[in-house]
Amino acid sequence: MKKTALITGAAGGIGKEFAKIHAQKGGDIVGVDLNLAGLKTLKTELESQYGVTVYIIEKNLTDLNAPKEIYDELKTRQININYLINNAGFGGVGDFHKRSWEQDLAMIQVDVIALTALTKFFLPDFVERNEGRILNVSSTVSLIPGPGQAVYFASKAFVTSLTRSIYGELNNSNASITALLPGATQTGFGDHSGMNKTAIYKKPANAADVAKDGYEAMLKGELEVISGIPFSQRVELAVAPLLPKKALVERIRKTQEIKE
Ligand SMILES: NC(=O)c1ccc[n+]([C@@H]2O[C@H](COP(=O)([O-])OP(=O)(O)OC[C@H]3O[C@@H](n4cnc5c(N)ncnc54)[C@H](OP(=O)(O)O)[C@@H]3O)[C@@H](O)[C@H]2O)c1
Repeated sequence: MKKTALITGAAGGIGKEFAKIHAQKGGDIVGVDLNLAGLKTLKTELESQYGVTVYIIEKNLTDLNAPKEIYDELKTRQININYLINNAGFGGVGDFHKRSWEQDLAMIQVDVIALTALTKFFLPDFVERNEGRILNVSSTVSLIPGPGQAVYFASKAFVTSLTRSIYGELNNSNASITALLPGATQTGFGDHSGMNKTAIYKKPANAADVAKDGYEAMLKGELEVISGIPFSQRVELAVAPLLPKKALVERIRKTQEIKE
């Protein structure tokens, strides 16, 4: 049966790659983004190439009411969602005491609140129908502290923790929730956040490969998948919790320094 995927941040980057993968499989898409021009391009491209339907919803997810409005709009239009891909998110470099409250609040609203609210609204329907998949796009940075990007790393730590906990609550259900933890990935994200000038952004992964890893893990109902980092970085992440905390924080601080 045809599956419909709701994808936030679908107009560009990893979100657009999710949309392409899903359309290739013949699935319809609800693309949510604040970038209306990007959504329209996505609709034209995917509908003509794959014969699927792409519904577009222009929303700024910094708006606290946006997730409920999206859920209600889809109910009213009787568009049934099978996959929820909480992808929209952004970061921002700079020490916590130097960044403005407005910048950090917007980040928390998109990366944490909107993702949590959409999960809150859609998951009960998925559990009731005993089907449905959620993919939450977190980050490898969710596993470590982030001096120089405190709110971004903490937001993604929330996403990974929330996803793991809900996964544990879905033992007896065919509904599932999965976290995708990408490393640095080639999208507009590096430029927007300023992260492309840091050492961790040296060799970004391909966005299509990262999306494929996440999409496949979501279909299998896996707990989480790390994507787009070399083996050496996987080892570093695995041993990070065992290191003395001060040494770990200092080490990460160095990787966050801006290279002009
Ligand atoms: N790229 C990486 O290195 C990397 C690594 C780990 C995790 N991630 C995560 O991957 C996810 C996707 O990021 P990406 O790399 O694909 O970034 P991207 O290229 O910047 O794409 C993000 C998309 O989300 C949209 N968006 C941003 N703020 C929004 C808002 N307030 N309301 C609605 N839509 C909004 C953007 O629209 P505009 O284009 O108009 O801003 C854009 O279309 C994010 O959650 C990010 O944290 C990325």
